[in-house]
Amino acid sequence: MSMSKHRVSRRQFLSYTLTGVGGFMAAGMLMPMVRFAIDPVLKAEAGGDFIATPLKIKDITAEPQRVDFTFEQKDAWYTSDVTNTAWVYKDEKDNIVALSPVCKHLGCTVGWASDEAHPDQFFCPCHFGRYTKDGTNVKGTPPLAPLDVYPVQEKDGLLYLGKAEPRTKEA
Ligand code: FES
Repeated sequence: MSMSKHRVSRRQFLSYTLTGVGGFMAAGMLMPMVRFAIDPVLKAEAGGDFIATPLKIKDITAEPQRVDFTFEQKDAWYTSDVTNTAWVYKDEKDNIVALSPVCKHLGCTVGWASDEAHPDQFFCPCHFGRYTKDGTNVKGTPPLAPLDVYPVQEKDGLLYLGKAEPRTKEA
């Protein structure tokens, strides 16, 4: 007799079934939408990726030369082409050095040998900041830190550059 109290009525059975199926379908529809909405944000940045430059390794000399390179940048849902610049040369140990041109004072662009009075240095025209060839800031000029350095790689005879980072140790 008591078992009859626990029996599910036809109406309850229908209600449970519809709720279950409805919930399942709703989850099935919502999951792709949620995933689409948050996926670009959760995706790891392509950090550590090296980008090809047009500069051939064999063309790198002891004289810093300007290299512009373009890559596709994904900012969440927005994709754009970004062009970066590096000053590239070989040091006396034949190591490739690639320096960021972004001045460590207020972010202007530095040029190599662009100041006639200091033809062997990087020069920032905004506030006359100067850096030695290895990117060290010259004391007494506005910049307070060395130029950032790009990690370098060689692939198929071309120079590849990583993400420019502050110099942590003295060159
Ligand atoms: S921004 Fe380069 S010296 Fe000020």
